[in-house]
Amino acid sequence: MALLLKSDIERGDAWQRALRACEPDMTVHDWPYDGDPAEIEFALVWGPPRGALRDFPNLKAIFSIGAGIDHLASDPELPDGVPVVRMVEPGLTAGMTEFVILSVLTHHRFMLDYAIQQRDKVWREIPQIAAAQRTVGIMGLGVLGSEAADKLAAFGFDVAGWSRSPKERPGIATFHGDAGLAPFLARSAILICLLPLTPETQGILNARTFAALPRGAALISIGRGAHVVEADLLAALDSGQIGGASLDVFRDEPLPSESPFWTHPRVIMTPHVASMTIPDSAAEAVVANIRRLRAGQPLEHVVDLGRGY
Ligand code: NAP
Ligand code: GLV
Repeated sequence: MALLLKSDIERGDAWQRALRACEPDMTVHDWPYDGDPAEIEFALVWGPPRGALRDFPNLKAIFSIGAGIDHLASDPELPDGVPVVRMVEPGLTAGMTEFVILSVLTHHRFMLDYAIQQRDKVWREIPQIAAAQRTVGIMGLGVLGSEAADKLAAFGFDVAGWSRSPKERPGIATFHGDAGLAPFLARSAILICLLPLTPETQGILNARTFAALPRGAALISIGRGAHVVEADLLAALDSGQIGGASLDVFRDEPLPSESPFWTHPRVIMTPHVASMTIPDSAAEAVVANIRRLRAGQPLEHVVDLGRGY
């Protein structure tokens, strides 16, 4: 059994070790591979070149190294009929929950204002607001959004989620579809975007969306950069409609040096690190799924490429 691995350089060795520890019978080849393409049954990849996966005639599944599969769905030359599996693994979920809590608390406790006050040597108390008085809205109630919602609710925040299909979740107010968007936005003083990037969600964080939020709302953008219409966000930040933003993902990555987001006083930016797949826990998830397939059971977390997630 052979798997082809295309990861970032930093985590390549960790993946090799973790995969071999979980499945000693599996041969793991690094990308690029110049052996017999017919040997490769599985691909575990991030950002393969367009059309490149067509070279492997016996491919049984393509595993995305990340939760998002837009790097695969955007390839019009993916091999036909080979299932694409998104990454669902406890390390990635835990990391995202940490980042959501960190970012929500940052805005909830006015840390952007205090950073500016520190810079200007201003000693001024801003009245504290109870978590129960703070409405938080999560766009995307999937694997990552729903776990983050539960943990925020445990902190006492007034949490809502918005998804495509209806959902019920104890302690979380739920909204769905086009009709649910406006009432969801109207009650989101802190808005978190954890949607996948699809043709429907591209540009969803735009002037209309920002105008529908309570004045001074905070935005936490951790899905994909192309969700955001950057000019609209800058205008909303400058007008005060958006009071502050934590931006982890950008339309162009790395963020170009001329981007105003680097220096905007109401923006905290991070270089697409809200959460990362952890090879040790992820290798277990990938190997368990491969074993399922070999036992004649259906793969878990296969994406619907037509829907885009
Ligand atoms: P998921 O389990 O597939 O969940 C996606 C959620 O989005 C679902 O609740 C889905 O609704 C909802 N959704 C999709 N299209 C929608 C639409 N048009 N309108 C309303 N809701 C819609 O995905 P996940 O594992 O939670 O990951 C979410 C995204 O996070 C990934 O795709 C990736 O882009 C991003 N991410 C970013 C980082 C980072 O470091 N910044 C790390 C990991 C992941 P239904 O439940 O009704 O289907
Ligand atoms: C990271 O962005 C991921 O999709 O896992």
